[in-house]
Order: sequence, then C-alpha cells, then structure tokens
Amino acid sequence: MATADEKFHIRMAEAADLAAVQAIHRAAFGSDIEPDLVAEILADPTARPVLSLLAASDAQPVGHILFSAVHLRELEGGCVMAILAPLAVRPEFQRRGVGGMLIEAGLQHLSDIGVDLVFVLGDPKYYGRHTRSPRNMQTPGWFRPSSLMFWARFRERSFAATC
Ligand SMILES: CC(C)(COP(=O)(O)OP(=O)(O)OC[C@H]1O[C@@H](n2cnc3c(N)ncnc32)[C@H](O)[C@@H]1OP(=O)(O)O)[C@@H](O)C(=O)NCCC(=O)NCCS
Repeated sequence: MATADEKFHIRMAEAADLAAVQAIHRAAFGSDIEPDLVAEILADPTARPVLSLLAASDAQPVGHILFSAVHLRELEGGCVMAILAPLAVRPEFQRRGVGGMLIEAGLQHLSDIGVDLVFVLGDPKYYGRHTRSPRNMQTPGWFRPSSLMFWARFRERSFAATC
C-alpha cells in the first residue's frame, strides 16, 4: 500500500513486525500499556480480522495503527464494525502527517472490504480531521466531548436501517 507521500510507505504489519510495532507504541505513549495491548489484541481470536498497518520511512518503522473487528451477528441485516485502537507515531516523526495517513489508509481499506462502522475513543480535535460522525447517532453524555464515533463506509441507508 503506497501513499502519495514518497517519504512514508504504508504496508500491512506482519507477525515478524511485532517487536518494532511495540517499540513504536512504547516510544509514543511512554508506557508498556499500549505495547502490551497490541500484543493482546493480535493474539485474541475474538478481535479478528484485525487490520494492522505499519508506516515506514526508508524501511524504518515509524507509525502503527490497529483496527479490530466487532461482531454483531444477531442484528438483522448484519452490521460490520471495527474498533480503532491504538494508533502511535514515533515522537521524532510526529506532526508530519503519518498518523493521518495511517487513519486514512485504514479507513479506506475497511471501507473497501465492507465495514460499516468504525468506533474510536479519542480526541475529536485530532480524529475529527479524518472522520465524521453519523448525524443521527446519539451517544451518551460521557462520550463527549472527549471522544468521537464515526463510520467508515458511507452507507447512510444501510446504517439507518440496520445498525
Ligand atoms: C496522536 C498521534 C498518533 C498523531 O500522529 P502524527 O503523525 O503526529 O499526526 P499528524 O501528523 O497526522 O497530525 C498532527 C496534528 O495533530 C495534532 N494532534 C496530535 N495529537 C493530538 C491530540 N491528542 N489532540 C488534538 N490534536 C492533536 C498535532 O498537534 C498536529 O497538529 P498540526 O497539524 O496543527 O500541527 C501521535 O501524536 C502519537 O503517537 N501520540 C501519542 C500516542 C497517542 O496519543 N495516540 C492516539 C490515541 S490512541
């Protein structure tokens, strides 16, 4: 998966990338919580299928985003959903568009494979640049303003009808 920006390349992360992926999260969050979370999600069969994307600069891994699946099979008509978490960019590569590229590439891929909704718990000031919330979606008060829900595949009729 190539990006328009020649400096950064986005590709699917593989099992062999786990240590590099965890190092990105450790550097960005300054904690072992997110690196552990990434390993936990990748090992969790109930999170599958996951979308794990790595951004690299000259083959050096600099950013990572993870989406995991949400299953709601009981809903009539079905609803294919995913959760975005976590996202990280190495501090020395931040504010160069890498995070945005990872979000956009991930949402595009999920949209292409038929995902209807993507949830994220994050700052709307940041995620709102790359996402939008359904107008008719009501979220609990505590969910705002510190978080945002959005949908990746813009199927408004299906969204209203089935989710
Ligand atoms: C959040 C993060 C992934 C953004 O990566 P990035 O590559 O710097 O993002 P982009 O270059 O696409 O966008 C940078 C812009 O977002 C802004 N931004 C970054 N984090 C933000 C936040 N929490 N709230 C509001 N704005 C934020 C920056 O100030 C910058 O603004 P500018 O364009 O006006 O200068 C990165 O800062 C990071 O890894 N942070 C630590 C981990 C984290 O908080 N992850 C997200 C929660 S899971």
